[in-house]
Amino acid sequence: MPSPKPRAQLTAVVGAQWGDEGKGKITDYFADECDYVVRFQGGNNAGHTVVVDGEVYKLHHIPSGVLYSGPISIIGNGVVINPKGLIEEIKNLRERGITPNLKISTRAHTIMPYHIVMDECLTSHQGDLAAGSTKRGIAPVYADKMYRHGIRIGDLLEPAIFEEKLIRSFEFNKNIIQKVFGRQFDLTMDDIYTDYLSYGEELKSFITDTALELYYAYKEGKNFLFEAAQGMSLDIDHGMYPHTTSSSTVAGQMSAGTGVGLNGDRQIIGVAKAYVSRVGISPFPTELHDERAEELREKGQEYGTTTGRPRRIGCLDLVQLRQAVRVNGLTDIALTKLDVLAGFSSIAVCTSYKIDGEIIKEMPASLDKMRRAKPTYTELDGWEEMSKDRVKYFCENGGSSLPAGMRKYIKFIEEEIECRISILSLGPDRNETILR
Ligand code: GDP
Ligand code: IMO
Ligand code: MG
Repeated sequence: MPSPKPRAQLTAVVGAQWGDEGKGKITDYFADECDYVVRFQGGNNAGHTVVVDGEVYKLHHIPSGVLYSGPISIIGNGVVINPKGLIEEIKNLRERGITPNLKISTRAHTIMPYHIVMDECLTSHQGDLAAGSTKRGIAPVYADKMYRHGIRIGDLLEPAIFEEKLIRSFEFNKNIIQKVFGRQFDLTMDDIYTDYLSYGEELKSFITDTALELYYAYKEGKNFLFEAAQGMSLDIDHGMYPHTTSSSTVAGQMSAGTGVGLNGDRQIIGVAKAYVSRVGISPFPTELHDERAEELREKGQEYGTTTGRPRRIGCLDLVQLRQAVRVNGLTDIALTKLDVLAGFSSIAVCTSYKIDGEIIKEMPASLDKMRRAKPTYTELDGWEEMSKDRVKYFCENGGSSLPAGMRKYIKFIEEEIECRISILSLGPDRNETILR
């Protein structure tokens, strides 16, 4: 089945919940018809899965358009890169017969080995306020960027500048790890210097000023597909702070994270699971602790793509989705894992929270309120289990062929959050998708 053509010159795919909604799948679905597929934030804390004819690909830095030979994959300046991890990712793809047509922004910051040590220290220091990080060094690398002693991937191609910056960054992190956290520090600057210069050498042919390339391409009318990492509630400003990641995960970041002023017409697709999963620590008002959670976790294989951790499972939360629609300016929603939510006689959907006796329909900023939020549920009819053949039938016959319970579920959500659900996903494979 060929990819559908995106409606706009600029299409963004963003996470509408807590990450792992199926952004990789939806990005891949649209990618073939796009000139550029662009990551604009996050790093290898992301794990995006694409399934094509039963073959599973897991991507961490590289945009999910890479499986097609047409589009150019861009890692924008807002992304943080673990160079060793990225080299490995490129190698793994090559071994599977895929040659990434990849360009990396010279301005993207690099994750250093001491950032990973620092991530460990921060997680234990923050205790109950930690987010349960993926331990990929994400908070420390973004913090060093903001302190302004970070190292950019382009610096690895300029040994003297790299050395000048590394001394400051290394000493800063070493001192904190040893003197603030009292931890042993075994890394040496010489080893890091040598290793990172060799990573720079290996990545050299990909590193360029991607902001300029995208600017000229945009003026020529080329179309772009932006792939976010993480999701609404993990956004550093609008998410459930401090249980978030350390970047802006919302669509507004696509300009800052690529360096292109993007004024053209846009389609902004929020990807949401038909239920909710969460890997990591935070209040989770609709979390399930009964056999429904177990069933959905096993059936939906809800284990972290990056860390393998079991994902916490809950009912669909429309307070969360309402915020995603509002903050991202969503034009569309892609609702995924509808096949997994099958087989229940009824399904509970959270339409608001009750906090101190008050009904709250919009996501509170207060952590205290979030800790006390009790979900208010509406019970809707479920739909029957579906075999792979049945999924194939639905995908061939479109939205109107779907079970009545599922159609009502979709309509109810659309009315509550005032956004059109125009993409339905009924399985992990590229083909198991319906456009409405
Ligand atoms: P991402 O981080 O948002 O790209 O999502 P992940 O790849 O981390 O997690 C989503 C998981 O669900 C992956 O294993 C996908 O292959 C799988 N998936 C995506 N859409 C569907 C769907 O509609 N049905 C089923 N059963 N699996 C899906
Ligand atoms: P994708 O792109 C799900 C979560 C972590 C933790 C918090 C902070 O695959 O959807 P970090 O390592 O960023 O400091 O962790 O964010 N987290 C994710 N959860 N999917 C992701 O990415 C995530 N990236 C980070 O579990 O709670
Ligand atoms: Mg993921």
